[in-house]
Order: sequence, then structure tokens, then C-alpha cells
Amino acid sequence: MGERFETKTVHIGHQPLRQVASKSTPIYQTSVFAFPGLEEVEQFYAGEGEYLYTRNGNPNQAELSDAIAALEGAEAGVSAASGMGAIMAGLLAVLEPGDHVLASHEIYGGTYALLHKELSRFRIDLECVNLQELRTLADHVRPTTKLFFMETITNPLLTVADMPYWIREAKELGLKVMVDNTFATPYLVQPVTLGADLVVHSATKYIGGHSDVTAGVLVGASELIGRAREIVVNYGASLSPFEAWLTSRGLKTLALRMDRQCDNAREVADFLSQHPAVGTVYYPAKEATSFFCRPKQGAMVSFTLVDEKAIYDFYRKLQWIKFAPSLAGVETSVSHPVTTSHRAFTEEQRQATGITMGLVRLSVGIESAADIIAELDRALGK
Ligand SMILES: Cc1ncc(COP(=O)(O)O)c(C=O)c1O
Repeated sequence: MGERFETKTVHIGHQPLRQVASKSTPIYQTSVFAFPGLEEVEQFYAGEGEYLYTRNGNPNQAELSDAIAALEGAEAGVSAASGMGAIMAGLLAVLEPGDHVLASHEIYGGTYALLHKELSRFRIDLECVNLQELRTLADHVRPTTKLFFMETITNPLLTVADMPYWIREAKELGLKVMVDNTFATPYLVQPVTLGADLVVHSATKYIGGHSDVTAGVLVGASELIGRAREIVVNYGASLSPFEAWLTSRGLKTLALRMDRQCDNAREVADFLSQHPAVGTVYYPAKEATSFFCRPKQGAMVSFTLVDEKAIYDFYRKLQWIKFAPSLAGVETSVSHPVTTSHRAFTEEQRQATGITMGLVRLSVGIESAADIIAELDRALGK
């Protein structure tokens, strides 16, 4: 270390390689890693060293993606700065200019925008199909079709398609399959074990679980994930160490949270289906979720008000359930698809899809189910 005050203040106490048996993972809040000499730099490029620069890789990113890969039953994983970053990496790992993608018509709006508005510029063609009405993908497959994309539980109408059937179909037709498992999490279903090539999460939701991070994770076979990792690095979509650390911390309670949130959602769905002010309740049916590895139907419930005009009153009367256009935190929250996620829909599209002005999307939290029900009852008007 230098002798003088100015140098000492910069370097004093710095012991990056000190072995400390901390019980929790340290946050590697560094943009770059130091090398003792040029030999070690050579070793890194020869594939022997793990970390060079945080955009290329960081222990906190790896802790998160390794954990999700293991929980999903996948060979490898890569984390990204958001769910959209992970979806982009997965799509670009599979697709080349001129390719065609088949996707369920009920995909997240951001995924639709990425494919329809951005990847179309690379001549990647999107076709959406209604998995509730379709019997086979065969009539929609072209010589250029490379990928089939679906979500386990859709947003906001919470439809669950027969995923084992559609994955089998797509694989028989020679397609790669990518599943967005955000709403179900690996606690309820692991699409890789059903044959999916890539599984993606907006870890912003249940994986993190506390509405305090934006993160994404993509898992799958090592070769595809290797390519996806290059894309994350080259497009600058890497997850920050602190966000990765927070997400990993949230992950530790995923099973506890999911159990409680799903059980609460069941009670809330039962209550809503008997309430005179409620029209339709959207909640995954038991039969539809029979391929899940646990007898749970997710923790989201959507419903319509019989009197659409009462929608403003409903949101205003809620006292502690917050309106927040996201989901999956430990706190129960409500959203309104028409004025948020599905804002761009025309009145015609709203009527055709059922995503109408009177539709409420409820993300059920870990609070007392009795309190959640009392709060909803108050806002619905007795
Ligand atoms: C199902 C689904 N997939 C992907 C995303 C995008 O995730 P993020 O907001 O973390 O980019 C969302 C966001 O709401 C989502 O609901």
C-alpha cells in the first residue's frame, strides 16, 4: 500500500480474498473483478476462471440462476435485468431472421410487444393461436416455424391450457418450446420435466415475492442457455448484484409463500363466486391444473363486477389492499387490466376477450384470508 493519506484512504482495509464464514451470501457489489497477474487473465479466457466483469457474470447472478435451474429441473440458467430481458435472451437464442413463432394468444403484453414490434424488425414472424379452441398446431406450422411459446397460467383471465399436450405436440412437429412459468412457479409445475426447452420467469413476481426487485431468469439445456447468456451480455441485460441477492433472499420462502397465497386464493375465489355484486370469477379449475405437481391452483383471482359502473367505487373503498399494476408480492394487491396492462385494447377487443371495464385482477397475499375477504366485502358493498 502507498504511504500517503490519499493512497491509504483508497486502499486501506481492502481484503477482497479474505475467507469469512458468513451465514448468508455476501453481495458482490462490484462492477469488475481483480486479477493478480496476466496468467490469471489468460486462465479466465481459457475457461478456467469464473468472473471478469459483472455484465459478463457475477456470483450473485449465478446463485439465483443456478437455484432456479435446479428447482425447475433444468441443466443451466441465466439471470437477467428483468423478465423481459430473460424472454428476449430466450427468444434470440432460438430464433434467426426469417423464422416464424407460434404463440398462445394469451401471452403477456410485453412479450407480444417484443415479438410484434421489435423482433419483427429482424423478420421474425409471430402468429398467435387460441389454445382453448385449437386441436392441433399442425395447420399453423410453416417450414420456418421454430418456436412455440405459452404461459402456464395466463394473465389476466388465468386460463390454464393443457401444457403436457401442447408441449408433446410442438415437439412432435420439431419445434423448440419456451414456457413462461411466472404465474405458477416451479413450486407448482416444472415445464422442463414435461419437455419444454426453455422456461422463463419474471422473478419480479413470485420468485422475489416482495415487490422490491425487477429481475428475470431463463433456464433450460446448457447449450441454449450458453447462447442466451451471450445475448444477455451482448445486449447489456445483466442483473445487478444487489437485485440478484434480494431475489435469492426472496426465493428462500417461495414454498411457504406459495402455500399460503394459494390457500388464501382458494378461499377468496369461493367467497367471490357467492357474492351478489360479482359476475364471473376467473380462477384456474382443479381439472385444468391436474398436471401441476401439487393440488394448488395458483394465487391469482380475477373477477368482474355485475355493475361495471361500480368499478370506481370498488377501488376507492379498498382501505389496505393497494392498487398496484404488478402481482405476486406478500401483500394482497389489485390491478385493473383495462386501464393498465391492456390499455391498448379497443372496445371490440375488450368484448371479444372478456377483458372489460368491470374486470378486477387480484393478487392474493399471505395475510389472513378472513381479513382479505372482509376488505373485499366492504369494497364490493354488502
Ligand atoms: C407473465 C409475465 N411474463 C413476463 C413479464 C415481464 O416481467 P418484467 O416486468 O420482470 O420484465 C411479466 C410482467 O408483468 C409477466 O406478468
